[in-house]
Amino acid sequence: MLSRIFKPYPIIFIGCLLPLLAIIIDMFSDNLGADPIQALHIRLGDWSLRFLWLTLFITPLQTLTKWRGMPQYRKMLGLYTFFYASLHIIVYVCLDHGFAWDAIVNDILQSAYIWFGVITYLIIFALAITTPKFMVRQLGKNWKRLHRIIYIASIAVIIHYFWQLKGIMVEPSIYLVILVTMLTFRLVVWFNNHKFTKKMIPTKRIK
Ligand code: HEM
Repeated sequence: MLSRIFKPYPIIFIGCLLPLLAIIIDMFSDNLGADPIQALHIRLGDWSLRFLWLTLFITPLQTLTKWRGMPQYRKMLGLYTFFYASLHIIVYVCLDHGFAWDAIVNDILQSAYIWFGVITYLIIFALAITTPKFMVRQLGKNWKRLHRIIYIASIAVIIHYFWQLKGIMVEPSIYLVILVTMLTFRLVVWFNNHKFTKKMIPTKRIK
C-alpha cells in the first residue's frame, strides 16, 4: 500500500542531481575557493567515488532486507557514477589542461595515480555501455561475470585517491573502511552460499 503512494525512484533520481546543482551554484556564486578549476575537479571526483560506493552498497542492502526492487536502484546509481566520473574527466581535459593532449599524455605517464583513475574509468565505461536491457540479453551469463569487475574499479579508485594525497588521509581512510566492510560482507555471503550448495550435493549414491 505504502509503496503505491510513495514512489522513491523519481525522488532518488532527482536527489542524485543535487550535488551537481550545489557545485553549479558554488561556481556561479564564486564560492569554489582560490583554485576553482581544481575545486571543481576534486568535488566531481569525490562524488563519482561516493556514487560508486552507493552502487556497491545495494547488494548487501538487498541481502539484508530481501527487497526485490533493488536492481533498478543499482542501475541508476551505477549510471550516476559514470555521469559524475565523466564530468570529472571532462574538467580535467577541457578546463585543467585546455585540450593540450601532449600535456595530458605527459601527466598520465608521469603520475602513476592517474593510471588508476584511467583503469577505474575504463571499467565504469564498460559497465555503463552494457547496462541497457538488450546488452544484458546479448551477454547472457557473461553479463553478471563482467559486472563483477566493479570490485576491481573500487580497489583501483581507492588507490587513485590515496596515491595523489599528500597530507590528511582521514576521508580516504573512511572510504577504505567502508569498502573493506562491504567486500568482507560479500565474501561471507558467497562463502555461506557456497557451503550450503555443497551440502545439497549428495556425496553417496541414493538407491
Ligand atoms: C581518465 C580518468 C581520470 C583522470 C585523468 C583523473 C584525474 C584526477 C586528478 C588529476 C586528480 C587530482 C586532483 C587534484 O588534486 O588536483 C584526481 C583526484 C580524484 N579522482 Fe580522478 N581521475 C580519473 C578518474 C577517476 C574516476 C573514474 C574516479 C571515481 C570513480 C575518480 C575519483 C577521484 C577522486 C575521489 C579524487 C580525489 C579528490 C580529493 O582529493 O578529494 N577519478 N583525479
